[in-house]
Amino acid sequence: MTKKILVIHGPNLDLLGEREPQVYGKVSLEQINQSLEKLAQLYSLTLEFFQSNHEGEIVSRIGAAKKDCAAILINPAAYTHTSVAIRDAVSAVKLPTVEVHLSNIYAREAFRHQSLVAPVAHGQISGFGAMSYQLGLLAICDILGLQGKGSS
Ligand code: DQA
Repeated sequence: MTKKILVIHGPNLDLLGEREPQVYGKVSLEQINQSLEKLAQLYSLTLEFFQSNHEGEIVSRIGAAKKDCAAILINPAAYTHTSVAIRDAVSAVKLPTVEVHLSNIYAREAFRHQSLVAPVAHGQISGFGAMSYQLGLLAICDILGLQGKGSS
């Protein structure tokens, strides 16, 4: 059976492409998801995409992931800096979790320098635009010990 990875996009990421393009780039969320799908095929992975602007919905989806997912790729967006509930959910499910950000959160306002999620994640990737997601998915493949088709 193929492994399923839960890809979570937090608040306002549904607006990618039109939202502050000088910070987040011009790539839409749909395009990011499509590029992740292509990468996932090389590793025979199934992806489930979940975007929500609501903290509780994200918490509930993480909690349910234990049943059917092998790992979580998450951009918690603004909740990165505020949500004890999302951090606790990630900590509770004990699935390998990689946190990603399009922008380099450490090069921005001071309130973005702290991630409440990062200490309970496997690691964090920040500042590579849409590529952060691909790097994050590759990190998950490595954590799960998966070999991509065509790689030696
Ligand atoms: C973000 C960075 C957050 O600080 C911000 O609130 C976002 C997007 C990023 O991907 O760069 O919404 O997570």
